[in-house]
Amino acid sequence: MLKLSGVSKSYGSGVKAVDKLDLHVRPGEIFGFLGPNGAGKTTTIKMVVGILRPDEGRIEIGGVDLAQDPMRAKFMTGYLPDEAELWDKLTGIEYLNFMADVYGVSLEDRRTRAMTLLETFEMTKAVSDPIGSYSRGMRQKIALIGSLLHRPKFWVLDEPMMGLDPRSSFVLKELMRAHVREGGSVFFSTHVMEVAERLCDRVGIINKGKLIAVGTVEEIRALFSQEGDKTLEEVFLKVTEAKLPEDQLASLAK
Ligand SMILES: Nc1ncnc2c1ncn2[C@@H]1O[C@H](COP(=O)(O)OP(=O)(O)OP(=O)(O)O)[C@@H](O)[C@H]1O
Ligand SMILES: [Mg+2]
Repeated sequence: MLKLSGVSKSYGSGVKAVDKLDLHVRPGEIFGFLGPNGAGKTTTIKMVVGILRPDEGRIEIGGVDLAQDPMRAKFMTGYLPDEAELWDKLTGIEYLNFMADVYGVSLEDRRTRAMTLLETFEMTKAVSDPIGSYSRGMRQKIALIGSLLHRPKFWVLDEPMMGLDPRSSFVLKELMRAHVREGGSVFFSTHVMEVAERLCDRVGIINKGKLIAVGTVEEIRALFSQEGDKTLEEVFLKVTEAKLPEDQLASLAK
């Protein structure tokens, strides 16, 4: 569903945010993208959805080259950004209609689809209010609904659990599972190791722009099995060399 080959991206400041990245997300799988702050997850995601252009390399979505046929690739994709920039003056329903217009969703289809999703996320009442009055979680939910109206095969989400209450977070995980059951793929970044462990068919760990581990959680854990049973969190800390500054922690605890 998604294939990245040798993709790199540097920013003007000289930072190489993504460094010759190869990545493959298969049809019908939930793929979790993990990595410390500044590792290059958002930069990768923004390239995958066509917001940023790679300096080098190739991105394919559903077999379509993103650089050659961006519209076809983008129609297959639903995207939830890390911080959804919504228009505060629009009401929720105006925003959803706008998204449906952009993706050419029929009136009939948008009505049934929006109604179901609004109910699922308990947003039916709030949908007539301006987005400016929404809480952080409500903004997240209306953006999530907007990303699904055109029934994308490929659902890309940047830290989607951020700001969601436990119920909404549960609903989102169920929606992700349903999405892949229907043959779609999910590619999402997260810092929540328990979510990755329980939800993902495969995970990839990125550090300093490079993919340093990829596979099922079991496979990644097995890499470290000689050192005894490790949780994904322990493996993550190990492979990203996030050594705990014990001296500093000890001095803080005093
Ligand atoms: N617009 C920008 N201009 C310059 N440098 C940037 C820009 N956006 C990101 N970077 C740099 O690129 C690197 C990767 O950032 P990115 O946002 O992709 O990381 P991330 O993995 O999403 O991190 P986080 O977990 O904190 O969201 C970092 O070093 C960051 O400082
Ligand atoms: Mg990010």
